[in-house]
Amino acid sequence: MPKFATQVLGTNSEAVGQAATMLRGGGLVAFPTETVYGLGADATQDHAVARIFEAKGRPSFNPLIVHVAEVSALKHLVQWSDAAQAVADAFWPGPLTLVLPLRAGAAISKLVTAGLPTLAVRIPAHPVARAFLASFGGPVAAPSANRSGQMSPTRAAHVTADLSGRIEAVVDGGRCGVGLESTILGLAGVPTLLRPGAVTEDALARVLGRAVAQRQDTETLSAPGQMLSHYAPAAGVRLNALDWREDEARLGFGAVDCDLNLSETGDLTEAAANLFEYLHQLDARGAPVIAVSPVPHRGLGVAINDRLSRAAAPR
Ligand code: TXA
Ligand code: MG
Repeated sequence: MPKFATQVLGTNSEAVGQAATMLRGGGLVAFPTETVYGLGADATQDHAVARIFEAKGRPSFNPLIVHVAEVSALKHLVQWSDAAQAVADAFWPGPLTLVLPLRAGAAISKLVTAGLPTLAVRIPAHPVARAFLASFGGPVAAPSANRSGQMSPTRAAHVTADLSGRIEAVVDGGRCGVGLESTILGLAGVPTLLRPGAVTEDALARVLGRAVAQRQDTETLSAPGQMLSHYAPAAGVRLNALDWREDEARLGFGAVDCDLNLSETGDLTEAAANLFEYLHQLDARGAPVIAVSPVPHRGLGVAINDRLSRAAAPR
């Protein structure tokens, strides 16, 4: 039942200032980042953060990422470390989230951390995200701006299709360049890859000067990206399709005949940027199954295959 007329805002400084004012008033504002659109709320206000879960229909035990404009804003929220500094120097602003020990007394709603002793933090690179965060001047809790279990939005129209009437506004910054959610690196203990993304495991290991551990599926730290069925289109998804069956929508990769091609030249960066957009488009055509060409399991292909296997998981 729609409760709000969701405003679509532009990206000039007046509109961004208006969006920041809405956050201060406890409102929900979706905004573009270089990965996907985030659904922002003031991370210090319990009520505002609670509204994120309500709007998304998300199980409330899932913790949220806090976004800020500058590293200096993090040091009173989390326990900073040499490892955090090294990866921040190398990859921020950018598509990387760090999970660090939460500082005692940090002014962050308990709903953001879901009661965990750690906090996920990120400094995005998108100029509109940076302007919005700078204008707001405080920590912004933001999951991807989709209903729980749906695909992450890479355009403002995806956000309104999912959340119109449930949030105050969306800042329309066009398409997201990376198109996949950030890499998540756990640094509260042994460096651990919690979610693959555009910043690869190899790149992290090089900067840290040590191997990065893999998250074990039995660990209790929950992330919706870790729930088996996630990022799911309405259609079924068939992976590693080498031929196409009748009635299927065909999502190709490389030199194949198909309905939409993630990248005709086999470019993984281009494929990542197109992934959610094309899943949305093929889903809208109403085919019962989306068949997807094999995507090589290297570099950004690891993150693409992670999202695809979740989209294909039984629900
Ligand atoms: O690219 C992104 O990361 C986007 C943009 C908006 O920044 N955000 C995003 O948020 O993907 P969300 O909520 O859809 O995914 C955040 C992931 C979840 O899997 C969550 O469980 C995990 O981060 N997470 C958050 N806090 C955590 C913590 N303290 N420990 C472990 N995982 C955590
Ligand atoms: Mg999400």
